[in-house]
Amino acid sequence: MSHHIPTMRTARELREALESSRQARQSIALVPTMGALHEGHLSLIRQARERCDVVVVSIFVNPSQFDRGADLERYPRQEVHDVELAAQAGADLVFAPSVEEVYPAGFATQVQVLGITDRLEGASRGPEHFRGVATVVAKLLNIVQPEVAFFGQKDAQQVLVIRRLVADLNLPVSIAVGPTVREADGLALSSRNAQLGPQERERALALYAGLRAAAEVAMDGELAADALLSAAHSTMVLFEVEPEYLSLVDPDSLEELSRLDGPALLAVAAHVGSVRLIDNVILDPSNLAAAAPLPLPSPRKVTACSV
Ligand code: PAF
Repeated sequence: MSHHIPTMRTARELREALESSRQARQSIALVPTMGALHEGHLSLIRQARERCDVVVVSIFVNPSQFDRGADLERYPRQEVHDVELAAQAGADLVFAPSVEEVYPAGFATQVQVLGITDRLEGASRGPEHFRGVATVVAKLLNIVQPEVAFFGQKDAQQVLVIRRLVADLNLPVSIAVGPTVREADGLALSSRNAQLGPQERERALALYAGLRAAAEVAMDGELAADALLSAAHSTMVLFEVEPEYLSLVDPDSLEELSRLDGPALLAVAAHVGSVRLIDNVILDPSNLAAAAPLPLPSPRKVTACSV
């Protein structure tokens, strides 16, 4: 069934569209996205639908959080389809502003969260990445003024950055986090998966396989970080993927851990061909099975093609 929901292009239009809901004291949810919606986004929209009266989905490919121009240009864009998917999942309206609307001439403000942004994604992608994320999320929260905003656990560090931003700036919003949604073989859903060729799609399983292998080692009673990381690394290499980072860190401070003494975040980033992917699991020694819901993938023998 085809649903039709309105798409607002400017902050002003959006505010006007939400005016009567706000006067009627209806609760407003925001699901911020960069489009190319997949089941991970849709699960957040469904959660928002259950919890709030009005669900706004924003679609904005934010140039300021891309560290490479080519990556920004290649990022998939499919707005008409996205609006349809968002509507089917329960959204009431879409906010899809232009770059000029979000960053008009003279725009000069940056929001920077310090500390946790120096690690993992921040260390790999540079300080601009989370500065871009924090700035655009602060703007979206101010424009939409939702009671709840929804984010995915796949971007675990982004969630921490946004929680810090919201606490430090006293923004009146609660942050809800939805679990990572995976393909049947374990690959975490990402808008970037669409850029993988067939062989790369198989090699992309390296990330989940590595995380899953570390969980297995921990389930066998080995809790030293070195042992977990080396199991994860050697599994990834079997898929012919070298991690950009692979770290066992405190799930709040992101500081490196030497041992799994409590819940920890095991996070990985890697390039598969030219596509950069990330994934993570929480390893909780009191519930390690939770980190290994799907079987450990094994690499398919990659046969070199003769040209
Ligand atoms: O996670 C994303 O898609 C983006 O980082 C976000 C939160 C929409 C900000 O551009």
